Amino acid sequence: MNLQGQGAELERRIEELQQQLMQAQKLSTVGALASSITHEFNNILTTIINYAKLGLRHKDNATREKALDKILNAGQRASKITTGLLSYSRRGTDRREAFDLVELVQDVLVLVEKDLQMHRVRLQTNFEGHPLAVVNASQIQQVLLNLIVNARQAMEGGGQLTISIRANTETGMAEISVRDTGCGIAPDSLRKIFDKFFSTKTADVQGQGGTGLGLALAREVIEAHQGRIRVESALGQGTAFILKLPLTKETPLRTTGHRRPRIDPLGSVSQRAG
Ligand SMILES: Nc1ncnc2c1ncn2[C@@H]1O[C@H](COP(=O)(O)OP(=O)(O)OP(=O)(O)O)[C@@H](O)[C@H]1O
Ligand SMILES: [Mg+2]
Repeated sequence: MNLQGQGAELERRIEELQQQLMQAQKLSTVGALASSITHEFNNILTTIINYAKLGLRHKDNATREKALDKILNAGQRASKITTGLLSYSRRGTDRREAFDLVELVQDVLVLVEKDLQMHRVRLQTNFEGHPLAVVNASQIQQVLLNLIVNARQAMEGGGQLTISIRANTETGMAEISVRDTGCGIAPDSLRKIFDKFFSTKTADVQGQGGTGLGLALAREVIEAHQGRIRVESALGQGTAFILKLPLTKETPLRTTGHRRPRIDPLGSVSQRAG
């Protein structure tokens, strides 16, 4: 192989390794959520079993109708979570399209609601309008999920997570902030948090180690979108990450792919084009 060929081969290999790193970090976050998602599924199954028993015991229409309604709701919730998780875990493409950032964030929240609740983290959302940006939805969701999981892990005894979205028409940027009331980041570490493999999470402390890739990849992803990522932190008080992405006037062609699963009464689950 000549030198040029070797160069091209090397570039292809680097690109491939980069993709593998992205996927490894993505699955590390799924790992962090596994316990709470299993827990939620258990609750959903308990609901379904109990209402099915109720429906079998009572022959009157009103009770049976109520039982079926509860079963349907529980099933729909479960379907929303599995669809979200499957769509999140899939290897992403490099396609970019216009998306409603509020929808993007809401889809991520479906996956973490139970986790936050289990760790006594109150969630507050301040969404102003529906800012649109041309993004790779899967990458941006990975960035958001890492910020939320980081925030939760920083609030050991519970706290408050505030997620805000607004359009800044003066700068032409959409702004998403993820703010926690956790332990904060010491100035020493603050300089290193965007470095690859910088992590303070060890397996024995958190029950699960971090790859230290979350924020490094977040910065790459956001900058590849001509955006900016910024951090503000006060030790013992909390941390905020602010993402800025260029606003677009393009109209979204579709939703994020795992929204609004429609379940018809015959039990088949249908999905909007994803
Ligand atoms: N909200 C936060 N509060 C306090 N510290 C944080 C916060 N977010 C990140 N950090 C610090 O930055 C480090 C790097 O974060 P990053 O997301 O890159 O990796 P990680 O969370 O350790 O691993 P992974 O994301 O792969 O699970 C963390 O280990 C933690 O020390
Ligand atoms: Mg992380």
